[in-house]
Parts: sequence; C-alpha cells; structure tokens
Amino acid sequence: MNRLIQQETERLIGKILREELLAEQGCTSIVRKLVSVQQCCILKSSFKPKYRDWLKAEAEALKIQQGVSLPKYFGFFEEDVASHLLMSFEEGTTLRKALENARSLEDEVQLIRSFGEFLQHFHQTNNTEAFNNDWLQLQLIRAQGYLAIGEADGTAELLEELKENLPQPVSQTLIHGDCTTDNVLVKDRKVYMFIDAAGMTVGDPRYDEALAIGRFKENNVYLDAFYQGYTRYKLSEEEYCYFDQGLYEFF
Ligand SMILES: Nc1ncnc2c1ncn2[C@@H]1O[C@H](COP(=O)(O)OP(=O)(O)OP(=O)(O)O)[C@@H](O)[C@H]1O
Ligand SMILES: [Mg+2]
Repeated sequence: MNRLIQQETERLIGKILREELLAEQGCTSIVRKLVSVQQCCILKSSFKPKYRDWLKAEAEALKIQQGVSLPKYFGFFEEDVASHLLMSFEEGTTLRKALENARSLEDEVQLIRSFGEFLQHFHQTNNTEAFNNDWLQLQLIRAQGYLAIGEADGTAELLEELKENLPQPVSQTLIHGDCTTDNVLVKDRKVYMFIDAAGMTVGDPRYDEALAIGRFKENNVYLDAFYQGYTRYKLSEEEYCYFDQGLYEFF
C-alpha cells in the first residue's frame, strides 16, 4: 500500500495496526485485510481500466443498496494507475471454499440449499413491476464493447446468436449480476452475504440463477438442493444456456 492510500485509509478507519493479503484472491483485484483499532476492513484494489470500472460500480452498489446483505461501504479512492475500495471485513468463507471443505454430502446439500434460499429471498423481496428485456439489451451492448476491444471470451457469432434469440421477458428484480459460488459468503453453514457486487442492479433474475447453478448443474443432488431453496422460478435448459454459456462469456 502506498503512502497516499495509507493516508486516505487511516483518515477513515484510524491508524492501521496490521495488514495482510488474503489467502483467497479474486481474478480482477488484489484484496487485503486491514486492521485498525476501530475497524477490520478489506481494501480491494484494481489496476486494469475494465476492472477499475467494475470496482467503481461495486463501490456505488455498496453505497446505495439498502436492505441487501452486503459489506459496508467505507470509501473509494482513485489514483493514476489504480482504484481502491475500502469496505467492512465480513466473517466467513466463500461458498466455493465452504463446499471444498465440506465433510459430507449432507453438509454440501445444506450449503447449496441455503444458497437457493438466500437468492430466493433476495429476488423475492426486490421484485419490480418491470416486465422487459431492458437490462439484457444493455448487457448485449456492453458485450459488444468488450468484444470490440478483445476483452471477451465469447465470439462475434455467439453475440449475434444472443441478439437474435432474446428470451421471453420475465419480471425484473434486483440482481447480483455475478452470482457464482465465489461471490457469496458462508457463516454457520449458511450463505448470508453477497460480495463482489459490481453488477448489482435491476435486471434479469435468470442471470443470477444460471450463474448460481453453473458450478453444479450436472449433479442432480446438488441441483435439487438448490431448488429446494430457490422455488420462485426454474430455468429451462435453453435459458440456462443463454445466460451461463452465452451472455456470461462476455464478462
Ligand atoms: N468484504 C469482505 N469481507 C471478507 N472477505 C472478502 C470481502 N470482500 C472480498 N473478500 C475476499 O476476497 C476475495 C476476492 O474478492 P472479490 O470476489 O470481491 O474479488 P474479485 O477480484 O472481484 O473476484 P472475481 O474473480 O470474482 O472478479 C473473496 O473470495 C473473499 O475471500
Ligand atoms: Mg469475486
């Protein structure tokens, strides 16, 4: 951490007593735990322009989303070469890690069911009247932009296919926007919080659902566990492919 960031951070949380790199890192940032007398925080830093934009969006989401289980926003700083988000350190591990560490199938099933319940509650309590593909149209424009600058895994053909085969709209809800097992935290064997919320906005809940089941879709026991918790909608195979195998390839 450079001097400027240290100063900015200490202005907000008091003198830093300890700093450590987290063992579990994401792909788009460097994440440090900072401990001061008053607070335990996470300093998340991104360097590439694309990821700096995402970090800024994450900061906005933490600032404006009320009533959603998210880390608390403390501050956001930008330098020439990097951006930094300061937020509360939250207990627990990612669901991915919790599943790796699970001791029995029963534990895994319990964890995945709780993921379904958590997402169910989130979508259900943040449902809107909007019944459209507005969010999806915007994502396709963003996808085109990433494709043009060589920042997407998906191909031009795939993007054309996605544009030509829009799914029937469903009622839009608040969504996480990158709802994988990496981006929810588990405490006491339950999913209880979202992290990495750059994509949180009103959008198509099928995107969250598709990414949520993406890691265990081929396992019927896990899939049943998820849908014991997530009861409001079940994706068709076509919808799953559209979102997880399709749209997600551009982000
Ligand atoms: N507020 C927090 N409290 C505790 N741990 C956190 C917090 N935010 C992030 N982490 C930890 O840091 C890791 C990386 O965070 P995050 O997913 O936000 O980074 P990323 O680089 O955006 O990841 P991705 O690869 O999904 O883009 C997480 O797996 C989690 O272990
Ligand atoms: Mg992440």
